[in-house]
Parts: sequence; C-alpha cells; structure tokens
Amino acid sequence: MNIRVFDSEQQAAAACATRLAEAVRARPSLVLGLPTGRTPLHVYRELVALHGRGALALSGVRTFNLDEFVGVPATDGGSFRAYMDRHFFRHVDLAPGNIHFLDGVAEDLEAECARYDAALVRAGGLGLVLLGIGANGHLAFNEPGESLVAACHRTRLSRETRVANLMLFGDDPGRVPMEALTLGMGALLQAGRAVLLAFGEGKAEAVRAMVQGPVTPRCPASFLQLHRDAEVWLDAAAARALQ
Ligand code: PGA
Repeated sequence: MNIRVFDSEQQAAAACATRLAEAVRARPSLVLGLPTGRTPLHVYRELVALHGRGALALSGVRTFNLDEFVGVPATDGGSFRAYMDRHFFRHVDLAPGNIHFLDGVAEDLEAECARYDAALVRAGGLGLVLLGIGANGHLAFNEPGESLVAACHRTRLSRETRVANLMLFGDDPGRVPMEALTLGMGALLQAGRAVLLAFGEGKAEAVRAMVQGPVTPRCPASFLQLHRDAEVWLDAAAARALQ
C-alpha cells in the first residue's frame, strides 16, 4: 500500500482529480468505479471544474458505482444515483449509456446483482476504483463480519453505517434503508488500481486497522493490503493513528 498524507482534504481532492484526469487521458475508455458519501465530494467538484475548463473529456469513460440502497428508487433524493446526478453526472459529458448503476428497486435483487457483475465483466473489470472507508472499516457496503463475499450481493447495513447515511434521508432514522446492494470484494480487489481516500479524525482508527492491522473480514478494507496497486490518500487527522 502506498500511503500519502496531505495537508488538507482540499489538497488531496485536487491531487486525486488530477490523477483521475491523467488516467482518463491515458485511456479514454477507462472503466471507473465510483463511490458516494461525504469523502469524494471535493473530488467530484474538482473533476467538474476540470471538465468546465476543457481539461477533462469523459465521453468515452464507463462508470460503475459501487453500491445502492435497497428499496430506494433512483428518483428518490436519498438514492446514491440521485447523489451522483447532483454532484457529478449532470455536470459532465459522460454518455448516459456508459453510466452503470445497481437498481435498488429491481424486482429480483439477486438477478440484479448478477446482471451488474456480468456488465462489469463485459466492460473488462474496473480499471481504477475510487474508494472511501467506513468508520467501521467497510469497503463499499462490504460490512465487517465473519466472512466476506466476492460477488455483487445484497447486504444488511450495520447500525453504524445507517447512522452515517442519515443525512441523505432528512436525518430521519426511520427512512434509512436496512439493506443495500454492493459490488463484492472480488471486483474491488481485481481493479487495476485502487485509490482510497479518508479524511478526518473519525476515520483514523479504521485507517490504522486497514494499513497496520491483520488482513481480516472484521476490517474489509484491510484486504487492500493484498492489492497490487493500492494507494491510500489521507489528511493529517485520518493519518493520526498510523505509526
Ligand atoms: P463517507 O463514507 O465518505 O460518507 O464517510 C465513506 C464510506 O462509508 O465508505
């Protein structure tokens, strides 16, 4: 794992957007894995700014978002699809047909997961995946537990994760979904390159477990220790527990 510590979240986000733009220039049909949440917000803002300045063309890029809530349609403001439209998709030149998303209201959720994995295989897998980390060490919605799942799957969200997503649902705990669909560990670990971002003191312990702890399903992100090209970009607060 290659660890980089930046003076601020803004600096890390700007460097990350520059890195992504370089990767797209090098391979205009790059397959990108994209996260949601608070962490990548500045990165999306920077990418939109680069696009606005004519420094980033995404028309050939294919994207696969990492996860989506079960029971939440794309039209619901709390869905990850709505988040992506709001913060990224509607501001750039991605071709609508190149945007891939899990459908959390599909009639057959198992078939939906199989469809998504198959589409990703057809695209050649993730060329570069951008990741956040949960305060509990989760990666996408691969939650800590006794074991991990390689394939795209339906999963029960931990209490901690549901609390972390309250904001998307008007701070109403009753509206936060109990379950989600998520890419499995296989797709994430097979990505050509993984760039994980973590900011703030609340992530410091998870970052320590990911980087310096044992590889264990109790901290799914620790499996990135086995990835051939994983970078971890932090601000000073998130790096605080590293020795
Ligand atoms: P956050 O979520 O960016 O909102 O902290 C990260 C994650 O849960 O992976």
